[in-house]
Amino acid sequence: MPAIVINFKTYLEASGSAALELAKLCDHVSSETGASIVVAPPMLDLAAVASAVGIPVFAQHIDSVTSGSTTGHVTIENAKASGAKGTLVNHSEHRIRIAEIHEIIDRARPLGLSTIVCTNNLAVSKACAAMDPDFVAIEPPELIGGEVSVTTANPRIVSDTVQSIRKISGSVGVLCGAGVKNGRDVAAALALGTDGVLLASGVVKAKDRRATLMDLVSGLG
Ligand code: G3P
Repeated sequence: MPAIVINFKTYLEASGSAALELAKLCDHVSSETGASIVVAPPMLDLAAVASAVGIPVFAQHIDSVTSGSTTGHVTIENAKASGAKGTLVNHSEHRIRIAEIHEIIDRARPLGLSTIVCTNNLAVSKACAAMDPDFVAIEPPELIGGEVSVTTANPRIVSDTVQSIRKISGSVGVLCGAGVKNGRDVAAALALGTDGVLLASGVVKAKDRRATLMDLVSGLG
């Protein structure tokens, strides 16, 4: 089912009690409409959000270290214990090495956690798709946080990513993100062949978050 994945990043407007409030709103909109909405709250809010909502809650990042004698890291096992159903990997604002991407995908699967690997171009998207994550999310870094959706500014990178990944794997889903703001952008993403969108500021900074979420969901058709 096509999905809307909302990354709260470390925005203060979506941290602490505000993270809970926004996640609950997403949960209500999802129940009301049947739309698949996933949230990735700030890491320190993950456990509280996961225990308060029914929609899937994802980590924003995982460190490629094991649980135990490591300090200050976010481990995949800790994320699961805190209620995460999956994780973003290699977000543009938190890049990791390719070997670490592979390790996290491999360690997430046996734990039943989904992975959304963020990529910045076609070559990286293809390399990551070959590692068999659940999703690759193409996000041109220069469009992140901007006013123009990737589906308008660079539809080609989205359709090329979809085509290339389909040749590599029938099971890896494709999301696109950067500048996504409304239902038209979501509909355009689906028309370009994706399985949904990954966005942040369009929801976090929206004046009327409920109306924005309903509009985004309307784009799922
Ligand atoms: O993780 C989503 C993101 O990088 C896109 O951000 O603010 O352009 O929707 P934004």
